[in-house]
Order: sequence, then structure tokens, then C-alpha cells
Amino acid sequence: MSDKRKSRRVPDASKEESTIIADYNARYRAAAEGPQLAIERSVCGTDYGVTSFTTAPQAERLIHQLGLRATHRVLDIGTGCGWPGLHLSLRTGCGMVGSDLPLAGLRSAGKRAIEEGISSRVGLVQSSARHLPFRARSFDAIVHADVGTLRPRARRR
Ligand SMILES: C[S@@+](CC[C@H](N)C(=O)[O-])C[C@H]1O[C@@H](n2cnc3c(N)ncnc32)[C@H](O)[C@@H]1O
Repeated sequence: MSDKRKSRRVPDASKEESTIIADYNARYRAAAEGPQLAIERSVCGTDYGVTSFTTAPQAERLIHQLGLRATHRVLDIGTGCGWPGLHLSLRTGCGMVGSDLPLAGLRSAGKRAIEEGISSRVGLVQSSARHLPFRARSFDAIVHADVGTLRPRARRR
């Protein structure tokens, strides 16, 4: 079954969210390919398959701004392929939960967490940011990189 068909199971996905799922699934599959990764490395200093404008130095700054430590738990909303949440966990030892709608990115994030040896402190959840499945005060910090700022192009009929 394709990612697109599986992702239709997201409960109450709005029309816009269905477009987001289809668009970003395609982007995250393409991001895993060579030329795009080369551009990402030179522009953002990362190799996660990012679709935001959050660079590696900016992610480093987040660590200090949030005062992240190994005892903390961070939620990365719209994590895509795990950027910047996985990096924050890798650098500080903090727990990290990444949420997003497209499965292609979440799969890539899961693979990366295993490769980096941090999967035991990483959770990945397919969920809309409109109704996150967490209790209040579950996290010490919440981050997001360009969620809601880079919207899919309107489809023409
Ligand atoms: C610009 S991308 C950034 C992805 C990743 N954080 C990065 O830096 O590469 C924005 C992300 O927000 C997610 N997103 C947008 N609207 C959302 C919503 N309503 N619920 C959950 N995720 C959403 C998209 O699926 C996409 O993965």
C-alpha cells in the first residue's frame, strides 16, 4: 500500500492536510536522492532531507536558547525526516517525539534514529498538529521548523 493511501487513515484530516500529506510524501521521497542532499548540505549544513529553512547553526542555537538537557523531553511538530528534533536529541541526550502527517518523512526519521543509536529515546507519531495526542505538560519544550509557513501550492482543476 502506498504512503498516500495509508495516510488517508489520519482521522479527520482536513482537505488542506490531505494536500500536505500528498505533497510532502513526494518531497521526502525526493529528498533522499543525491542531488537534493548535496544542495541541502551546502545550504543548510544538514543531511536529513530537510524541507525547512532551519540551518545547522540555527538548530545549535535552539539547544542553548531552550537550555536543553538529557533529562528533558522535546516535541518537534512537523518533524518531516526528523529535523531538527533528532539533532537536538543527538546533541543533548534529551528525549524527543516527532509528529507529522506524511509517513515517508516519519519512516526516514525512524531509520535515522536507529542509525544514530538514539531510537530508545525517540518517538514518532503520525498526527495532525490541530489535535495532538499528548496530555498537557508532557514536554519541556516544543519546536517546529517552518510548519504552516511553507504551504502546498493550491491545486488547479
Ligand atoms: C517545511 S516542512 C519542515 C519539515 C522539517 N521540520 C524540516 O525542517 O525539514 C513543514 C512540515 O510541517 C508539516 N505540517 C504542516 N501542516 C501540518 C499539520 N496541520 N499537522 C501536522 N504537520 C503539519 C508538513 O507535513 C511538513 O512535514
